[in-house]
Amino acid sequence: MLRRITNINELIDSDSLPRHIAIIMDGNGRWARKRLMPRTVGHRAGMGSLKEVVKACDELKIPVLTVYAFSTENWKRPDNEVQFLMKLLVEFLHKELDELNENDVRVNVIGDYSVLNHECQDEIQRALLTTRNNQGLLFNIALNYGARAEMVEAIKKIVDKVISGEISRDSICEATVASFLYTGGVPDPDLLIRTAGELRLSNFLLWQLAYTELWVTDCLWPDFTRENLFAAIRDYQQRDRRFGALTALEKGDESV
Ligand code: FPP
Repeated sequence: MLRRITNINELIDSDSLPRHIAIIMDGNGRWARKRLMPRTVGHRAGMGSLKEVVKACDELKIPVLTVYAFSTENWKRPDNEVQFLMKLLVEFLHKELDELNENDVRVNVIGDYSVLNHECQDEIQRALLTTRNNQGLLFNIALNYGARAEMVEAIKKIVDKVISGEISRDSICEATVASFLYTGGVPDPDLLIRTAGELRLSNFLLWQLAYTELWVTDCLWPDFTRENLFAAIRDYQQRDRRFGALTALEKGDESV
């Protein structure tokens, strides 16, 4: 049933919005190739989509947005592409920080950004510090992020705590593991959007996506607009989320 409608044209129920949207922004290279342009042109166009989606999530009052900007595997790309992506990150944070801050957005980075160049680290630190007390959208940028590396780090931290006696082996539960991930304290994504049609998770948030609704579109990331975001949310709102249980209807059905 539609209760409160956020955008009359889009029929989004503002009472059942995803609390956390995660996005694998794929297809920048293909978008550029279709136009006989270098891949970097696709990445720059992708930055435009990212700006629009952050703005739309903020306007919709989505609590958390996590985007996969650079994976631990992306270092295997040609050096000029890696350097360009780092420059784009610096440019994005530099140009957008004031507006993000004015809109009460809290910028956060998940992943080991200590290995990025100093310019990137300085810009990240500035964004984190400037927005640290903001109460609006939590905007997680996954940088040098890999879910397996994240889990390895969490395991090491938990082992250290057990060795130091701060926690006991038997007290370790799913909540303990979740709390040691980069996303500790943040609800798991309700909705994962992947553009450019690939049907894989690419080492993104493997723990956190256990019960996430997946929405894949053939649309290439630079073509992705707020209308696509609305379509994903509308689709999500039609899903029957059971988390391994039965629906109310099934529970009452003796013949099952
Ligand atoms: C995947 O497309 C995209 C990336 C690896 C980078 C994502 C970066 C942006 C959207 C730029 C803006 C982001 C920030 C934070 C400044 P691909 O290159 O793998 O595309 P393909 O599969 O078509 O080759």
